[in-house]
Amino acid sequence: MPIRLTVNGRERSSDAPAMGALVDLLRDEFHLTGAKPVCREGFCGACMVLIDGVPTLSCLTPAALVEGSHVRTIEGLCADGVPSPLQAALERHDAVQCGMCFPGMVVTLTDFLERTERPSREAVRAALTGNICRCTGYERIVDAALSLASDRVGPAVAPGVEAT
Ligand code: FES
Ligand code: FES
Repeated sequence: MPIRLTVNGRERSSDAPAMGALVDLLRDEFHLTGAKPVCREGFCGACMVLIDGVPTLSCLTPAALVEGSHVRTIEGLCADGVPSPLQAALERHDAVQCGMCFPGMVVTLTDFLERTERPSREAVRAALTGNICRCTGYERIVDAALSLASDRVGPAVAPGVEAT
């Protein structure tokens, strides 16, 4: 029985094994390789996608469970090759990480900033706790997220204060 779902606004179906991981369905069947199966144990966040708007680890999600769902991957965040506002802010801040960890971080932050109008620095850092980079800091990424939030609604609240 084929699995049917919507991925980045496009209806898709597959006869891939239903109990296979969503990350493999995305990568192997739909050739969307942005989500990375790095640890496959739920620790690193490299496989993060949005399922019906909820950040979800696609390495731990059986493909069968996404039947009828709307999945958004890193590939779906830009439109016609135009970076999303977050992607543009990250670029302006030279906040570029490797291709293993970064897509998951961008998916996580996209969701966070859609839900959080005026985040504090601590809130942005907390949002990224499930996305692990093993080699560098997160400061430029946090700077980019705060700058985007500030551009949208004005300066962020004082450090340590959660505004929303
Ligand atoms: S690959 Fe899914 S959390 Fe690491
Ligand atoms: S830059 Fe990707 S794991 Fe550190």
